[in-house]
Amino acid sequence: MSTELIETIAALRERLAPLRRSGATIGLVPTMGALHEGHGSLIEQCARECAATVVSVFVNPIQFNQAEDFEKYPRTLAADVAFCEARGATFVFAPSNTEMYPGTLRTSVDVSVLTDHLCGRFRPGHFRGVATVVTKLFQIVQPDAAYFGEKDAQQLAVIRRMVRDLNMNLRIVGVPTVREPDGLAMSSRNRHLPPEERRVAPLLYQALLAAGRAIASGATDPAEVRGAALALLAREPLFKVEYLEVVDHEEMQPVNQIAGPVRLAAAVWLGSTRLIDNLLCGTE
Ligand code: PAJ
Repeated sequence: MSTELIETIAALRERLAPLRRSGATIGLVPTMGALHEGHGSLIEQCARECAATVVSVFVNPIQFNQAEDFEKYPRTLAADVAFCEARGATFVFAPSNTEMYPGTLRTSVDVSVLTDHLCGRFRPGHFRGVATVVTKLFQIVQPDAAYFGEKDAQQLAVIRRMVRDLNMNLRIVGVPTVREPDGLAMSSRNRHLPPEERRVAPLLYQALLAAGRAIASGATDPAEVRGAALALLAREPLFKVEYLEVVDHEEMQPVNQIAGPVRLAAAVWLGSTRLIDNLLCGTE
């Protein structure tokens, strides 16, 4: 089956309407393109579970804090369409900036509290941009289900909460993080890493695993658990830790004591590249 590239909202709605009338389930995988196997796993799961799969490819300007980061974001549309086709997508929706934001935006979606810590603290306005564009995509596609990666755990929690709070009529599906063989979480940003930084990058996941082991062996003090991870990261001077926190997995608030499921979440800088990763712990 071939994948159709669609660039306007009107054309996408026109193609989806008869499918919806015929009772076909529609799944959405929102992405910013530069697709890799992490995205691939979302697309494949969506294609398995839904009759029609829409992959959106849109580098959303309103979720970037720095113009430079937005400019530098890789854009590989032709390869992305081929990638989606190989994984069973029905449509790639790749609108232009003016198609998505034709005039000044006066409406946005804000999810409070869940965005106070972690990435929300260091990237002001980021989650407002994400929640707003995802709401627009939900309105455009009206999917039965939408697929998001656990790699961006705070984003997934924010979307789940937004859907619940605003009675959006769709199912949110979380998909496990896909990793390179050495443990590094796949990310479009990994391609910016020079060899020396790429070599040490897996230490981020190893640090989370070390903290996870501390929890598994009974540690209940978040400071002790953070210490286990930070000690490992300190061995590699190329790393600059932005945050490393132990949070509850629904509201994303730092916990005072570990007594149940928690998420270890971290962001680090390797040179000019920012990497994030997280691990769910304490579930057994
Ligand atoms: P992007 O970074 O392109 O990611 C698109 C989706 O792929 C997100 O749900 C993300 O969590 C998931 N993903 C990325 N790397 C992954 C990995 N290694 N394993 C599993 N899933 C992975 O996230 C965004 O785009 C944007 O914020 C978006 C939601 C599209 C809104 O603009």
